[in-house]
Amino acid sequence: LAPKPLADKRVVVTAGPTREPLDPVRFVSNHSSGKMGYALAGAAAELGAAVTLVSGPTELSAPTGVERIAVETAEEMLAAVRARIGGSDLFIGCAAVSDHRPEEVPTHKRKGKEPFALALTPNPDILAEVAGLDPGPLTLGFAAETHEVLAHGREKRAAKGVDWIAVNDVTEAGAGFGGDTNRVTLLGPEVEESLPFGTKREVARALLARLAPRLA
Ligand code: PMT
Repeated sequence: LAPKPLADKRVVVTAGPTREPLDPVRFVSNHSSGKMGYALAGAAAELGAAVTLVSGPTELSAPTGVERIAVETAEEMLAAVRARIGGSDLFIGCAAVSDHRPEEVPTHKRKGKEPFALALTPNPDILAEVAGLDPGPLTLGFAAETHEVLAHGREKRAAKGVDWIAVNDVTEAGAGFGGDTNRVTLLGPEVEESLPFGTKREVARALLARLAPRLA
């Protein structure tokens, strides 16, 4: 029998994009497919954890044994996380949460061909809120970066107060948004380790192998 190091642990994972409505038929979003977050949820379940996956809109099926809560907006994602986070041992923020949402959402479809200016307002930071809970779970965030990848990852880890950040360079071929593979560098209290390139499931397993001893 495979060892189940997370057998008595509860893990909450966010995955996928959020969609921020512009009007009843349009939205602002990003290229996240959910694959990395779903791979993490599946890998945590393989290790025996009870896993809740809070997911933005994706084409994916929930991994075996994982409870999935489907959400659309960042505010819905935050509400679902708040409802499930109590008593959890590990929070993994892998969702590409839209940093902003349209300030005004008309109840009717926007019409006409005239240009219009769109005011955006910041969304709540789900990862930072969970990292600030006391007592709270250990936290792993992700950083999707396009330049000065490690420096920005270190800044994000400090600014959000998370235990670990997995940084991906989304400009690297085969890494980041959409595909089946990724490469991340894990930044933590006593590690800065570049993990091997692999499938998102392999990368997820490698990340959890490094975190599991801290959860014991
Ligand atoms: O879904 P895939 O197609 O498989 O792609 C995977 C991925 C590239 C989306 C994933 O590996 C990844 O990098 N996810 C984080 C993307 C992101 O939004 O990064 P960020 O640098 O903008 O945010 C930093 C961290 O804060 C993330 O953990 C994010 O979930 C969290 N965050 C950000 C904003 C916000 N309002 N709330 C948050 O919780």
